Amino acid sequence: MIASPAILAPVDEQLASDVHRGLSVARKWLPSRLFYDSAGSRLFDQITELPEYYLTRTERGILTSYAPEMIAWAADSKRLRITELGAGSADKTRLLLTEAVALQGSVVYEPVDLSPDALAAAKQRIEREIVAVTVAPRVMDYTNGPKLDLGPVDAGERRLVLYIGSSIGNFDRSEAAELLGRVRAGLGPGDALLLGVDLVKDEAKLQAAYDDAAGVTAAFNLNMLAHLNRELDADFDLAAFQHRAVWNSAESRMEMHLQARTAQRVHFERLGFEVDFSAGESIHTENSYKYLPGQAEATLNAAGFAPIQTWADTQGWFAVCLGRVA
Ligand code: AVI
Repeated sequence: MIASPAILAPVDEQLASDVHRGLSVARKWLPSRLFYDSAGSRLFDQITELPEYYLTRTERGILTSYAPEMIAWAADSKRLRITELGAGSADKTRLLLTEAVALQGSVVYEPVDLSPDALAAAKQRIEREIVAVTVAPRVMDYTNGPKLDLGPVDAGERRLVLYIGSSIGNFDRSEAAELLGRVRAGLGPGDALLLGVDLVKDEAKLQAAYDDAAGVTAAFNLNMLAHLNRELDADFDLAAFQHRAVWNSAESRMEMHLQARTAQRVHFERLGFEVDFSAGESIHTENSYKYLPGQAEATLNAAGFAPIQTWADTQGWFAVCLGRVA
């Protein structure tokens, strides 16, 4: 009997072009969205629980203290519909949804994500946990297109868009302004945006958050190579690369890199492509921008939102800002 050849799914064109573009240049880089295959998403969930990764817990603390105020300011005596960019931050979102239910009896929640699986999981979890929430998932790429087309809200309703978890930090300043401008273009007068940003702080604190003692962030970073091995039949030897987290003070950002321990050649079987690394050469895999006090408000303003209110923790590590469409 003749063995039938394995049937391979076609190569994802976006992934192929990311790899060609990022690894054919002198300063190699890969986009941070390549972290999030299913193993990477699980590792990110573990990161959010790490003692060093203060971001998630600090933002949750702010939401726990101020969710009633946030919801009241956003609603401004109208009914709210809540839209969230990304479907991953369920436990923090729950605090806001619970408050909206307390204020208006029920709420429609629209998580926006590219992954139908992540959205289905969010719908199941949230509708089970808070009965007065109706989850209306939106499969959409909010990082692309001229505007985030969310469609109209019901008469007398206002939309509150959540962009929390420091997700904006993974975009550079001009990309961030563009993204928020695109969100603004899809909203109407009186609608609001709640933005969570990580603030500039002591370098050692930042460094530890992106290079934890248990090595979970290192595993998260290295998983990008495992992802490429799986998807593109590449032969990255994960042991031949090391995780590096660097504070770039000039750019006010934490950077993650994967540094080759030795000179080596990597083959991408499915792309018919190979890449040489010299010893010590690295791939830049992520930027995580940190904001100075006032900078998030300025970014909101530049995107066409009037900054209404900012809430922070007592240590000044993290801020959540509300902006309204004038
Ligand atoms: C998803 N994003 C906000 C995280 C961050 O802090 O930039 C991703 C991450 N990278 C390393 N640790 C966590």
